[in-house]
Amino acid sequence: MSIYSQTSIRRIIGGEGSISQSYDIAKSFNAKNVVLITDKVVYELGLTKTAEEYLAKAGCNIHIINDVPPEPSVAQVNHIYEQAKAVDCDLLVAIGGGSSMDTTKLVSLLLTNSISLVEMVKGAKPSNKGIPTLFVPTTAGTGSEATPNAIVLVPDENLKVGIVCDFEVADAVILDPNLTKDLPKPITANTGVDALCHLMECFISKKSNPLSDAFAIAGIKLVGESLRECYKNGSNLVAREKMLLASCYGGICIASSSTTAIHALSYPLGGRYHIPHGLSNAILMPLIMDFNKDYCKEKYCIMAQAFGLETTGKTKDEIAQQFVEELYSLNRDLNIKCDLKAVGVTEDVISSLVDGASKVTRLLNNNPKPLSKSDMYKIYENLLKANA
Ligand SMILES: NC(=O)c1ccc[n+]([C@@H]2O[C@H](COP(=O)([O-])OP(=O)(O)OC[C@H]3O[C@@H](n4cnc5c(N)ncnc54)[C@H](O)[C@@H]3O)[C@@H](O)[C@H]2O)c1
Ligand SMILES: [Fe+2]
Repeated sequence: MSIYSQTSIRRIIGGEGSISQSYDIAKSFNAKNVVLITDKVVYELGLTKTAEEYLAKAGCNIHIINDVPPEPSVAQVNHIYEQAKAVDCDLLVAIGGGSSMDTTKLVSLLLTNSISLVEMVKGAKPSNKGIPTLFVPTTAGTGSEATPNAIVLVPDENLKVGIVCDFEVADAVILDPNLTKDLPKPITANTGVDALCHLMECFISKKSNPLSDAFAIAGIKLVGESLRECYKNGSNLVAREKMLLASCYGGICIASSSTTAIHALSYPLGGRYHIPHGLSNAILMPLIMDFNKDYCKEKYCIMAQAFGLETTGKTKDEIAQQFVEELYSLNRDLNIKCDLKAVGVTEDVISSLVDGASKVTRLLNNNPKPLSKSDMYKIYENLLKANA
């Protein structure tokens, strides 16, 4: 068995109403000056209010930065960093989706290291731990709260880049389903499929290991039980809580295993067309899972059972195929169309998408089945033709 390594969140607090525990967390860090980082929508929906109240009760001064854009670029993260730098803070609180959490990870490191974000994008590693972080996800999701990764858009290269560093794993996390119950349907769908992709990709990844496998299978089961229900009935807090856990489990998997071809081929789509991360993964998911299935049939059978499919009496080949079909059916039920044309992609850019994806060797190298440039070309091409 190969060596694996897991860096973990120090403290996870979960359950309905658990946002009140931000009081306890602030006290445990002896925090006096908190920078709360979020986006406009989350702020205007009032999702930061309860945390603000409890942080104030804990005696903290709170400085709010509420303009994190979706899928931020290097310049946009630097803009948030400039605002945070003006405050001498001892705790960073991110309340939002992956965009707010990833931005906060990078701000935390920039505040305690002398390297720039551009240098980090080019591979420079921070040597100091950042300012302590509390992450409260409001999508379910990226699992960013548990991963050592932060994703930024590099517009010059039409690509998204993952900055990986163990210091990025959150110090504390609150998983409160109340904060996700008003997520609009398309965001519930896209981010939910992102979580499923993390779990499945980490399970079939060459870096899969006993620890990530345990979380992957438990997470796939939770997604099978709850994603369609969250989409249909967003106020079902039991289902919302299951998806928040599944998302966090996906992040925990990423911390010792790795995503693979779905995420690799997704990065140039996000980089060039600014398609939401979960949506570009969802579009690619069934076709790439079909592409990989013959290389890890046993694992597809385990995933099918965990997802809740009835597999009695079927051969391994049949179950693997059944699982791939279930992924198409999930996308249909969530109103996600596997159509690249619909998001603006045209045939003449496929070669440059392939060039972009080929650079994501960090993930491609872990795909169970080797992917040639011509395989990638065919995948993008098929998704263009899908609804022609
Ligand atoms: N670090 C990681 O390990 C990791 C993993 C996957 C994705 N990502 C990155 O995360 C980013 C995407 O994050 P995301 O998918 O969570 O989306 P997001 O953070 O960009 O949010 C998407 C939209 O949902 C809105 N929103 C968030 N919570 C809401 C709520 N409760 N109710 C209503 N609206 C709400 C936001 O305002 C925003 O408009 C991308 O940049 C992606 O590359 C990071
Ligand atoms: Fe993702």
